[in-house]
Amino acid sequence: MQSPVVLATRVLGKAVPALHVNPALARSVPSTVSPVGPSLGLSADGVRSVRAVDRSLEVIWNDGRSHAFPLIWLRDNCDCPRCLHPDTQERTFDLLTVPETPRVASAGLTGQGTVMVLWGDDGHTSKYESGWLRRYAFESPGDDPIRPDAVLWDASLSGRVPRFDYGHVMDSERELGAWLSTLLSHGIAVVADTPGRDREVVRVAERIAYARRSNFGEHFEVRVEPNPINNAYTALKLQNHTDLCNWERPPGYQFLHCLENTATGGDSTLVDGFRAAEALHRADVDAFHVLSATPVLFRFHDTGCDLRFRAPIIGLDGSGRFEQIRFNFGLFGVQALPPDETAALYAAYRKFARLVRDDRYQIRFKLEPGDLLTFDNWRVLHGRLAYQPSTGRRHLQGCYVDRDEILSRLRTSLSAVTDAA
Ligand SMILES: [Fe+2]
Ligand SMILES: [Zn+2]
Repeated sequence: MQSPVVLATRVLGKAVPALHVNPALARSVPSTVSPVGPSLGLSADGVRSVRAVDRSLEVIWNDGRSHAFPLIWLRDNCDCPRCLHPDTQERTFDLLTVPETPRVASAGLTGQGTVMVLWGDDGHTSKYESGWLRRYAFESPGDDPIRPDAVLWDASLSGRVPRFDYGHVMDSERELGAWLSTLLSHGIAVVADTPGRDREVVRVAERIAYARRSNFGEHFEVRVEPNPINNAYTALKLQNHTDLCNWERPPGYQFLHCLENTATGGDSTLVDGFRAAEALHRADVDAFHVLSATPVLFRFHDTGCDLRFRAPIIGLDGSGRFEQIRFNFGLFGVQALPPDETAALYAAYRKFARLVRDDRYQIRFKLEPGDLLTFDNWRVLHGRLAYQPSTGRRHLQGCYVDRDEILSRLRTSLSAVTDAA
């Protein structure tokens, strides 16, 4: 079983500064290599020599370090216009047109210190900048450029939920990046002063990419409905939950735009599910194991759909780190497990359910018109207190944005900021 310390870091969490940008990902970044030559004031990362050895090309740098690059890897990573489409930046080279160990006819250096390889099988020439090779030899440039640490939070976040200004988020790549980065690290943020226009929530989603449709539409209205198809469309209290956990891939993020909130009650509640799961791990490691190892059925059905998926309540990735919480009393299906497993599941589920509504972990606040609450639906559980529709109106518009789009847009906003600098 993992230690709580390991569990506190998630998929993206590595011990590096938030928003670390790895320039090695930009294949076209000019290298800083000096011309190679004994009297030219050699740069340490310039290439001194190359030679083919067995299945590799051994590259020796001016500082004496060396690295053996597998020939098949080099051939596959040729970035000439015939191998990498200059417009799409997608590979057009067909890996099966060369042997598993391509033959090197000759290998050497250009006057600029770029490594050149003439391949024996197809007579193709490839060039590799020394700086690019060096990064792949001694760094881990395959890592994602965005690696914010997960910042787990509890009730002490009350009154300190990160806030971003609508106008800045919509106009500035830097501010957009700051908001999205906070969504990755904290899983929660408010975009304040969002204009009270119909479907503005979708326009904010489109600042990123597009809203993800669901069986509730492109966007949904959270207000009292005459014939509700969802408890959210009543004035009832909603226990903290994640949305659409009956889907194979629940929406990554949820946006809720407050248009009106004059009714008595209806305060929003939120809890960091990873923090609550960490607390469960500390309190009862067996219960934690049951919830992270037992696939349970989640289901939503009405006249038009029957959406079901089985997955653990506490989802861990291949390294045992938190990946996804699925928690929703309303969508918890009829489980078909042996009696002893059913009893153990319910005991663990009830323990976790107490934690996700525990005031030590939960924050509570009333959304104001103009607040656009955004949160990680794989991590943060949301709910609301009951309200009295007779005392006023409460109207939110919501939509979902998937995780891929958030990550992609953060990467492009970082590139835009870096390029502008
Ligand atoms: Fe919800
Ligand atoms: Zn090529």
